[in-house]
Amino acid sequence: MINEQSWLGTDEQRARFQAVLEVMSAERYVSRIWEKDANLWTSEPGQQEKIEKRLGWLLLPERCLSRVDELAQLADQIRGEGFEHVVLLGMGGSCLGARMLEHIVEARAGYLSLKVLDSTVPAEVLRVTESINLELTLFVVASKSGTTTEVLSFFEYFYGQLRQIKGDRAGENFVVITDQGSALAEIADRRGLRATFENWPDVGGRFSVLSYFGMLPAALAGLPIGQILEGGQAMAEACGSSIPPEQNPGLRLGAVLGACYELGRDKVTFLASAELESFADWAEQLLAESTGKQGKGLVPVVGEPLGEPEVYGDDRLFVHIHLAGDERFSALISRLAAAGHPVVDIELSEVNSIGQEIYRWELAIAAVGALMGINPFDEPNVQESKDKTRQVLAEYAQAGQLPQFTPDVVEESLRFYGAAGADCAAETLRQLFGQAEPGDYVAIMAYLPRTPETEQVLEAIRGQIRDSLRVPATLGYGPRFLHSTGQLHKGGPNTGLLIQLVAEDSCVVEIPGKDYDFATLKEAQALGDFAVLQQRDRRVLRIDLGCGVDRGLTTLAELISEALRNAPRGS
Ligand code: PA5
Repeated sequence: MINEQSWLGTDEQRARFQAVLEVMSAERYVSRIWEKDANLWTSEPGQQEKIEKRLGWLLLPERCLSRVDELAQLADQIRGEGFEHVVLLGMGGSCLGARMLEHIVEARAGYLSLKVLDSTVPAEVLRVTESINLELTLFVVASKSGTTTEVLSFFEYFYGQLRQIKGDRAGENFVVITDQGSALAEIADRRGLRATFENWPDVGGRFSVLSYFGMLPAALAGLPIGQILEGGQAMAEACGSSIPPEQNPGLRLGAVLGACYELGRDKVTFLASAELESFADWAEQLLAESTGKQGKGLVPVVGEPLGEPEVYGDDRLFVHIHLAGDERFSALISRLAAAGHPVVDIELSEVNSIGQEIYRWELAIAAVGALMGINPFDEPNVQESKDKTRQVLAEYAQAGQLPQFTPDVVEESLRFYGAAGADCAAETLRQLFGQAEPGDYVAIMAYLPRTPETEQVLEAIRGQIRDSLRVPATLGYGPRFLHSTGQLHKGGPNTGLLIQLVAEDSCVVEIPGKDYDFATLKEAQALGDFAVLQQRDRRVLRIDLGCGVDRGLTTLAELISEALRNAPRGS
């Protein structure tokens, strides 16, 4: 049974939806997606091979179903050896899928507890380290390219720790998921790691959850991967090459997203059942990194405090994804629809049918990408920040310190030291907020440890910004978001008011073999991204909270309240 999907919209929105379906039908979207016809997404010559290499996800449920037994055996073997934890080391699409599944689907008892490390903030690295027994932990090092700096750094760090405990047997605690022949595959070989799982070469990133990237950690954690994949396969069949757009669940969702985008409703705002909240976290990356380019993009809004219809501008599309019987948002949804906001409603019969939604949303993004005239399968501006980070680290290696901001490079760089700094910060924030126009969004990019305290303050700030300026405020933790909304911030429409938050780290965590530690790496990433945002003429402000994150955040919240009180209100 396919999860139900419906949507509510005004006459104008429904008419646009019909028009989009007609375009999809006339231009044979369904069959061309299945044929992997590059011309559907790009007119650039010579793209066919590249596109084909990124569309293997279409066949993934079926392909990966044939690996379920192999993965089940691995999971049994590992737990039979007494391992207790599995730590997934990855960034972006190589780890967000497994994290989502672990939050949504119930694990069978007796399997490993799954943790994900995707932050170079030293406190986050230590938090994971302190929550496990190293000897009884299997590390899954996941990187398609095999060159992602964060992932290789995590690996070196934990491998170094295990070497101290187990000497030459350290490799027993590591398995690798990567492409054949990658740099990581070579490291695995050289260091004698336990196993390398070569993933399908035409699959990667945010479209890879139903491959080894999502399924291997899920199997180790005792999740019912067969059921998840069967859900994916059921949706793949419902969306098959002969199913026209009007009856095709993936294309229908793509058509709603596309119609709303064309009507200026590009802020895709998720309301999810508590059990499904992490689906929205995963979808955030799928939407932002796939569509945020060439000055276009859908802006996902996830985890925003709820409000009544009048606090939302007319740039919103709401997505209500919920379990059957969960009526928590029903009344609000009716009020939002009555106020003219379009609402997509997706009802899951049970959590294990999440595989269907993974596939539905991937196909919808492929379709909406074609409509928007972008290639949803690349991430050109993520690379820019990576390159800049490398440059910053090279400068660090030469000069022994990170490049400093100077006033002519960025006037907004300030530290919360003393009253003068705070006055200056309030004024700079006021100026930033004063630029907010309808259709804009505020993005908080926090290179901070993600703790309940940080979360609470930043969530409250998001609500305040939305209510005062009537624009959405998103939140991403750095450097994790660089592999997700980071693409949209740089490559998407220039509608973001971007606030980068950094702070001094309270601990030092070395990376074996490197002349920089995790704090330096994280700071280089923040600096690198900031520089690229500036080069791209984005409206970006960097705030250094100094030492003591909690104290800095309290000051920040006060300053933001003050700045919002004094900033001109959005219409
Ligand atoms: O969706 C994507 O393509 C990215 O988020 C990648 O998954 C991320 O950058 C990690 O890449 P890799 O798997 O090569 O380490």
